[in-house]
Amino acid sequence: MYNKEQIQALQKQSQDFLTGNADTVSAAGIAPLREILRFHEYRYYVQNEPLLSDYEYDKLYQLLQRTEKKHPELITPDSPTQRVGSSLNQQFVTVQHLVPMLSLDNSYNAEDLTDFDRKARELSGLDAITYCIEPKFDGASISLIYENDQLVRAATRGDGVEGEDITTNIKQIRSIPLSAAFSQYGIRQVEIRGEIIMSKQSFAKYNELLVSQNLAPLANPRNAASGSLRMKDPKEVAERNLDAFLYHISYFVRDGIPAGNDPLASHAGSLHLLWELGFRSPEKEKRVVTGIQPVIDYCLAFEAGRDNLPYEIDGMVVKVDDTVLQEKLGMTSHHPRWAIAFKFKARQATTKLRGVEFQVGRTGAVTPVAKLDPVYLGGVTVSSISVHNEEYIREKDLKIGDSVLIERAGDVIPQIVKSLPELRDGSEEPILFPKQCPVCKSELYKEETEAVWRCINIECEAQVVEKMIHFVSKDAMDIKSFGEANVRKFYELGLLKDIPGIYSLDYDRIGELEGFGKKSLDNLQAAIEASKQQPLHRLIYALGIRFVGETTAKTLANAVENIFDFTRKTEEALLQLEDVGVKVAKSIHQFFSNEQNIDMLHQLEQLGLQMKNEKKATVAAGALTGQTFLFTGTLAKLKRSEAEALAEAEGGVIVSGVSAKLNYLVVGEDAGSKLEKAKKINTIKIISEDEFLSLINKS
Ligand code: IVH
Repeated sequence: MYNKEQIQALQKQSQDFLTGNADTVSAAGIAPLREILRFHEYRYYVQNEPLLSDYEYDKLYQLLQRTEKKHPELITPDSPTQRVGSSLNQQFVTVQHLVPMLSLDNSYNAEDLTDFDRKARELSGLDAITYCIEPKFDGASISLIYENDQLVRAATRGDGVEGEDITTNIKQIRSIPLSAAFSQYGIRQVEIRGEIIMSKQSFAKYNELLVSQNLAPLANPRNAASGSLRMKDPKEVAERNLDAFLYHISYFVRDGIPAGNDPLASHAGSLHLLWELGFRSPEKEKRVVTGIQPVIDYCLAFEAGRDNLPYEIDGMVVKVDDTVLQEKLGMTSHHPRWAIAFKFKARQATTKLRGVEFQVGRTGAVTPVAKLDPVYLGGVTVSSISVHNEEYIREKDLKIGDSVLIERAGDVIPQIVKSLPELRDGSEEPILFPKQCPVCKSELYKEETEAVWRCINIECEAQVVEKMIHFVSKDAMDIKSFGEANVRKFYELGLLKDIPGIYSLDYDRIGELEGFGKKSLDNLQAAIEASKQQPLHRLIYALGIRFVGETTAKTLANAVENIFDFTRKTEEALLQLEDVGVKVAKSIHQFFSNEQNIDMLHQLEQLGLQMKNEKKATVAAGALTGQTFLFTGTLAKLKRSEAEALAEAEGGVIVSGVSAKLNYLVVGEDAGSKLEKAKKINTIKIISEDEFLSLINKS
């Protein structure tokens, strides 16, 4: 889609806009700015290789927004700002597909595939057929129509003949281009089929959010994706972080067949064309082979590796590659004769629910956890599953002794899909909720509007320990080598009793414990020390304030200069912040009104933790603002930590590994694998220590 020169030029223009710091751009600058934003959307959403930080992207996006506000007459329907629909979907109009959206016939093993191939060979009279194989994405089926290069309609599958118009919602999905240069290939109108999916990561995050709001989580990413398509508020669709794979050109009108290679002569060619036009097609995942044995091999290899994919697939699709041959093979009333799905083994299983344990979390919420007869499910043995709350148990009609159907979606936490009441023999027992905290025995409470029972004793051992586990965890303060096991061990031995205690551990006593040699003690101490410099948003998240996830923590950190500013913020003031609703504002306000909490924050400040919003200070700072750095090898003049501090003092950001996000790799003596890796990414500038010093004028 973009060649090296274009990438470098676009990246340079991006930096020019970013460093320009202008309030708006000229009318002539609008089109290039849009091109730049489209490029970065493509890098981020289609290729998964962003070249800008989210912060920088937002800056460019806002620049375009401001400019369009000043010149509304220059807004185009395919401008990146036009995804966000302002109005709610009133109703979803029924529309006809240009061609019926057929389903696929299924196969389950090598024999079925061999059969399919034999029939195709018989019908075509060929000795061997060339196939294109690609993943079968597990999501919700859609069709898109582009006319004169513009996305004009998106529809659900519906009954295959008619679906519903969901254009506004689909525009929220950033891997779907609002315009694409089909006209370059003489194509005036085209209907494309694809699948809306939610990545495993987005699904896990989304479920976390649901659970934090006391809502029942969804069973799998497919439900999450299909439930998103008909949402009233397009903004909610945007928040779900959906993705789209486009895998089939089902209809097109073009001015004539191009001379030379016709990209639409083969299925692989059409996937390539879509990829070239900026769509996320399975270009990288597909394989073209001749004969059925390599088809079988590829399907089985993909099945073995399915857990390593970032999204769910439930099989592979095998398609006859030659589109003329496809026509010739035709279709039955249900499915084409030129394609077949190869379905992977299901990841559902039935087992017995033997009992329920009640666990107390860091907010005091008491969570019932179902204990199951261990059952092997797509690579792991499952023996316990959270059943969330009383309401959930009632909804799923769960009883102790029940047979239950469970499902594991990829590496996502397993869920109980349903109980199987028809298998009951009368010996099943109801699940009874405790009235007292299973850990500290104090009485449990439940707010009327909530589904969750809570232990409100803030000294409850379970809560204290869980809070510390959260504090040191990877997404919070990221104190490596601390971890859940050490928190529990130190707490039990009386070496740690609260969060500030993490920063005043008695290392001599820990050194006497089994398994703590000098090296591991040093590592632990260094990790604890390093965490003091974690940015404010991590500290805020680490505090475990109810309803404050990582994103809200970032919003909060950006809203203040110092964490203690929150003690002066009213609920109304908090409500002004993005994504902070009534419940969240109340919870934050409560946290910062509590003396014990403030006392703890003062202790942490004294212990040297970062309480200020560093970003606010550095963004304005210096020559390296917004640029990312990584140091490798032995530097001659500076210590590694000094060099990093210098870069940061000038507004630079230190990153931990080589990726397309890295701007500068500073190389010392004996640099190894990082240098080799960086050489392969042509946007990274590889510089010496002296060049780095001259960048900051300190040679
Ligand atoms: S091709 C006429 N390719 O699976 C050909 N379908 O069970 C139409 N699906 O309705 C479909 N990944 O929603 C095709 N790579 C892929 C697919 C795929 C997922 C879905 C699609 C279809 C269903 C059939």
